[in-house]
Amino acid sequence: MEKLYEGKAKIVYKTDDPDVLVCEYKDSLTAFDGTKKDSMEEKGELNAKISSAIFSYLTKQGIPNHFIEFVPPRTQKVKKVEIIPVEVVIRNVMAGSISKRLGIPEGTALSEPLIEFYLKNDDLHDPIICENHVTGLGFATRQQLDVIKDLAFKVNDAMKKFFLDVGLRLIDFKLEFGTHKGQVILADEFSPDTCRLWDVNTNEKMDKDRFRRDMGGVMEAYLEVARRIHVQD
Ligand code: TMP
Ligand code: ASP
Repeated sequence: MEKLYEGKAKIVYKTDDPDVLVCEYKDSLTAFDGTKKDSMEEKGELNAKISSAIFSYLTKQGIPNHFIEFVPPRTQKVKKVEIIPVEVVIRNVMAGSISKRLGIPEGTALSEPLIEFYLKNDDLHDPIICENHVTGLGFATRQQLDVIKDLAFKVNDAMKKFFLDVGLRLIDFKLEFGTHKGQVILADEFSPDTCRLWDVNTNEKMDKDRFRRDMGGVMEAYLEVARRIHVQD
């Protein structure tokens, strides 16, 4: 297959069908805009399985998205989209960059979920932008942005419940959207690389913060998430 694009965590290939791409999940693990790098055996497989299960669930919840099917061991068929270069972050609990920026301790609950937008640009360190930047700079129309916000909050409602059912608190996550045949749909992935998950009983971190913060047990945590959502024995 012809390689279309290689990112930090995935390789995208063309297929015979111009509307369909194949996405391969890599074992590499990066943080801080790619400046911290490692590779962990099986990470790609685990994230491909986890993200596939989550996108299937989101399809059932009525969230339009790019996922077509999981192709074991580590690829997915997806609908081709034009990616909107904005990272959409939803937060339920203070953690990570917002805790640092505002000086509010990690773990502080929010009275309502927050939505934030970041420009997808590693060289600029994904700067935070606001809604007016998104529309004024032409990354999305006002109508598209309304769809993005509505879908992002719906994903939050669905995924909070999905994870709570297996004893995990969804602290925050990042989404990416794209356009496919004129429609805004959810794209990219949803995995422990792109969200924060804390065990409801112990508050143990079960996501990429274990890598960012050199806590160890990265693969064990990803494996445990995969086990809890029944995509791994
Ligand atoms: P942050 O606290 O670093 O801003 O991250 C918020 C959430 O978004 C967290 O779950 C990690 C995720 N995220 C990504 O997946 N990729 C990114 O480039 C950024 C900035 C955040
Ligand atoms: N900024 C995000 C992180 O710290 C993603 C990345 O840098 O690749 O994980």
